[in-house]
Amino acid sequence: MRSSLTLLLSAALALAAPTPPEDDTPLPVLIWHGLGDTFNGDGIKQIGELIDSVHEGTLVYPIGLDPDPNSDRTASWFGNTTQQIAQVCAELAAHPILSTAPAVDALGFSQGGIFLRAYVERCNFPPVRNLVTFGTPHNGISEFQACATTDWMCKGAMALLKMRTWSSFVQNRLVPAQYYRTVDPETGNASEEYLEYSNLLADINNEREVKNETYKKNIASLNKLVMFQFSDDVTVVPRESEWFAEVNGTTRTVFPLKDRPIYKEDWLGLKKLDEKDGLEFRIAPGKHMQLSDKVLKAAFKEYFGPLKASSKAPKPKLDL
Ligand SMILES: *[C@@H]1O[C@H](CO)[C@@H](O)[C@H](O)[C@H]1NC(C)=O
Ligand SMILES: *[C@@H]1O[C@H](CO)[C@@H](O)[C@H](O)[C@H]1NC(C)=O
Ligand SMILES: *[C@@H]1O[C@H](CO)[C@@H](O)[C@H](O)[C@H]1NC(C)=O
Ligand SMILES: *[C@@H]1O[C@H](CO)[C@@H](O)[C@H](O)[C@H]1NC(C)=O
Repeated sequence: MRSSLTLLLSAALALAAPTPPEDDTPLPVLIWHGLGDTFNGDGIKQIGELIDSVHEGTLVYPIGLDPDPNSDRTASWFGNTTQQIAQVCAELAAHPILSTAPAVDALGFSQGGIFLRAYVERCNFPPVRNLVTFGTPHNGISEFQACATTDWMCKGAMALLKMRTWSSFVQNRLVPAQYYRTVDPETGNASEEYLEYSNLLADINNEREVKNETYKKNIASLNKLVMFQFSDDVTVVPRESEWFAEVNGTTRTVFPLKDRPIYKEDWLGLKKLDEKDGLEFRIAPGKHMQLSDKVLKAAFKEYFGPLKASSKAPKPKLDL
């Protein structure tokens, strides 16, 4: 009698306060590739397989600006990034699965990380939980990379660049010019021309006088912004930009993010994110985009996967 009453009671309690089923479906992962790459290149395919090997059943969504891989590659060099990002926002918001996901994770390679951050700031639907960037020049580049002799697309871009970096002609067409950043040699602050003409970076870094509160709110809403800097990067100049640092080009003095007004005055929500332990500065050994499976798998394990795991599981240490 007593035991059946207990059973009945516990059954009633279970009905009254049902515990939601543990959903262990991994969150989808967006990938935005780098300069000169395409959404369906072999490298990106392998990354997708690696994510699936760590979190089986992950919907991996490599972002492309054109279904034709060659046009997508061209778009990584040429185009107006404002329009490119808006296009991706519209596609993700209309995607039948992604748009119904509670959240997604995001993986940005090199310049792709800048665009994913812009996506978070400007759109963030579906919302991003963890944004992981590898070799992303968050504080821009102060030099353009040298082109390989056979890289006609790079050469075309450089020819365009000679028509003046800050002209609206170039800012409207050459992708790397839109995250090029110069400083005033006297003050060390962002230069007037950069603040006035930068089509992307000065805006998404909230460096102009009027700050966009949505950008700030959305960055602070991330669970994690994880910035991997390559230890021997010579492609991104300066490589400390991958940790959002500023570097004096003459003396090579590094001003870390936390010493800069963008952080101290919290123009972008990075300080707020840091205060909830959401800002991570990590090192990946090697040159630009010299990614090892070991580093990638450790990162995927730590930052991707089901929604619940990340908040519950004790934080594993990355073994680099
Ligand atoms: C801030 O950004 C949001 C999202 O892109 C945009 O809708 C809004 O107009 C911007 N606000 C200002 C003041 O520029
Ligand atoms: C890039 O496109 C946006 C949106 O169409 C436009 O407002 C902006 O002026 C363009 N940028 C340049 C430098 O032409
Ligand atoms: C440099 O920027 C900081 C932060 O915005 C500002 O307080 C300072 O006055 C600027 N320095 C000069 C010389 O413009
Ligand atoms: C860089 O350092 C040099 C030497 O200390 C200094 O004269 C110059 O103003 C600094 N430039 C910037 C942009 O901070």
